[in-house]
Amino acid sequence: MRSNGCGEIRNKDISSTVELCGWVDRCRDHGGVIFIDLRDQSGTVQITIDPEQGEELFNKAESLRSETVLQITGLVQPRPSESINRKIETGEVEIFVKTLNILNPVRKNLPFSISIHDEEPVREELRLRHRYLDLRKRRMNQNLRTRHATLRAAREFLEKEGFIEVETPILTKSTPEGARDYLVPSRVCGGEWFALPQSPQLFKQLLMIGGLERYYQIARCFRDEDLRADRQPEFTQLDIEMSFMSQEQILELNEKLICTIWKEVKGCTLKQPFPRMTWHESMERFGTDRPDTRYGMELKNVNDILENIGFKVFSGAIANGGSVKCITIPGGNKFISNVRIKPGGDIFTEAQKAGAGGLAFIRVREENEIDTIGAIKDNLSNEQKRDLLKRSQAKPGDLILFGAGKTSIVNKSLDRVRQFLAQELKLVPDQNNSSSWNFLWIIDFPMFEFNPEEKRLEALHHPFCAPKEEDIGKDPNLWIKQLPKANAHAYDLVLNGLELGGGSLRIHNSELQKAVLKAIGMKANEAENQFGFLLDALDMGAPPHGGLAFGIDRIVMLLTGEDSIRDTIAFPKTQNARCLMTGAPSGVSEEQMKELNVISTYQDTE
Ligand code: AMO
Repeated sequence: MRSNGCGEIRNKDISSTVELCGWVDRCRDHGGVIFIDLRDQSGTVQITIDPEQGEELFNKAESLRSETVLQITGLVQPRPSESINRKIETGEVEIFVKTLNILNPVRKNLPFSISIHDEEPVREELRLRHRYLDLRKRRMNQNLRTRHATLRAAREFLEKEGFIEVETPILTKSTPEGARDYLVPSRVCGGEWFALPQSPQLFKQLLMIGGLERYYQIARCFRDEDLRADRQPEFTQLDIEMSFMSQEQILELNEKLICTIWKEVKGCTLKQPFPRMTWHESMERFGTDRPDTRYGMELKNVNDILENIGFKVFSGAIANGGSVKCITIPGGNKFISNVRIKPGGDIFTEAQKAGAGGLAFIRVREENEIDTIGAIKDNLSNEQKRDLLKRSQAKPGDLILFGAGKTSIVNKSLDRVRQFLAQELKLVPDQNNSSSWNFLWIIDFPMFEFNPEEKRLEALHHPFCAPKEEDIGKDPNLWIKQLPKANAHAYDLVLNGLELGGGSLRIHNSELQKAVLKAIGMKANEAENQFGFLLDALDMGAPPHGGLAFGIDRIVMLLTGEDSIRDTIAFPKTQNARCLMTGAPSGVSEEQMKELNVISTYQDTE
C-alpha cells in the first residue's frame, strides 16, 4: 500500500512520486492551502493540498479529522526556505498530494490527543481505558521497542552461550514464591484447580534433571499480591537455569548478559565485575536488601554508644534484643524543622508507615556541639558525644535521626526516611539522564525468616535454595538443627535501589530438600503430596544446578527512565488488578459456573 515510510522522505527523494500511509497527526488550513502532518511508525511528513489540485480532493482534505487513516500519492518537493522545519528529519521536504484515499475515517471524539505536537500528560485511567490510542503515541511506542530490543539482546546472548528456550506450563500446580495463587477451576476434573505459575521454578529445575543443562524462557508469571509501581499481577521474567556451574560462574555469566543488554539498548559500557555485598552487610548499612548505593546517608548502629545513657527508649530497645541506629542528614539543621520530625510531620509519618513509633533526633550545632531534645542531650557524656559524632560522621549543621526498637522496624523505617530525604536533597539522579548505573549483587541471604503471625520459619527466597555447606555441615542428622541459622547460596541483582532479579543454587539432594521443607513447618506427608514429583526426581540423578530470574518489566522501566512498569507493558492492569480496556475481570454466567462446579460466595457490600 505504500512505497516509503512517512519519516523516511528526504531531499534525495525530491521530484519522485511516493505512496504513503498513515494517520493525520495535525491538519492546518493556511490561507486556502491545507497542510497535513502525516504520521506512521517512522515519523511524520508534511503533505500539502491546494485548491488547484481539484475541488473534490481539496474538499476531502478539508474535512479530515485528526487520526483519520490515509493513503496518499504525491510528488516530493523542496519546502520554501522560510518554511523549512529543522526540528524534524523530513523538515526540508513536503509532499504535493495527487490522490488521497481515506482508509478509515474517525467517527468518534478522541479521548485525548495523539499528536506528536501535544505532550500534555494524560490521566493514566484514560490512557489505560484507550490503550490502543496510548500505544499510538510516541512514548509507549518507543517503550515497547526498547522492550523488544532488550529481549532480543538477551535471546542473542543466551543462544550464543548455548542456552535453549523451553516453554513450561501455564496451567499447573502452585509453586511457592510467597504470593497468593491465581486459580483456574478444572471442568474435566471436577472440584480440582490449576494454579497459574508464580514462576517456572520447579519446571526449570526438572528441565535440568531432564538433562537440558542450559535453559531460558521469557516467562509470564502470575502473582496475586498487593500492587505497586514495580509490581503487576502478571509480569514477565527472563528465567534462566543451568547445570554444573558454581555460584560465581552463574553471577559472572549473568553480569555479561546484563552488560550486553545495556550495551545494545543504551549503548553504554558497564564496569565489571559488579560489586557484591552480603545480605547482612546490606541490612546493617542500609536497612534493606535492595539499597540504592548512588548516595550515602548510611545507617549506623549506635547500640554500644547509647546503651547506658539512661534514655529508656534506647536502653529498652537494646535490652529487648533490638537496635538503635542513626542516619545523618547533611545540612539537615537548616531545612528540617522539629515539626517535621514530630508526630504529624512528614518525616515522622514516613517512619511511622514502616511501623516505627517515632524518631529521636540530635542537631549538631556550628561548634560541633550537640543540641537536642532533653532526654538525649542531658544524658550524653562528652566522650559519648565524641563517639557519636565519629560514628555518625555528622558535621556542624547536620541532623542525626535515630530509630530504636525491633531491628527489622528500625531498618525499615530508617531506610524509608533515607530514601525520602535523598529525594528532597536531590541526591537521586533523574532516571532519564542518569549515567550512574549502580549494579550490586546482594549475596548470602539467610535461608529463612521468622513469620511471627504463623509462628514458623519462612523461606526468604523459596524453599528450593541450597544452604551453604559450611553452615549446615555434611552430617544429614544435623541439618534440621543447623538449617534455621544457615545462609543460602542465594543472590539478588539490585540496581539503584530496585531488585532486578534473583536466584540461587538449588538443592539437588532429596534428603536436604525434605529437611528444608520440614524446617518451614511442612509435615512429611504434606511435602510428599505437594512436591513428591520433585523429591522423586531429585533421587534419579539430579545434577547440581542453579539459576535466576530477572524482572523484564523492571529492567525496561529503568532502561526507558519510566517510573512505573505499567509504562513498559502493552496492556497492563491497574493498581486494582483490572484491565480498564477490556473490563477484565468480569462476571461469568451461571451456566459456566455450574459446569466448573463453582459457587460464588461473594457479596457486594456497597
Ligand atoms: P523472584 O520472586 O525474586 O524469583 O522474582 C524474580 C524477579 O521477578 C520480578 N518480579 C516482579 N516483577 C513485576 N511484578 C511482580 N509482581 C514481580 N514479582 C517479581 C523481580 C524479581 O527480582 N523463581 C525465582 C527465581 C529463581 O530462583 O531462579 C523467582 O521467581 O524483578
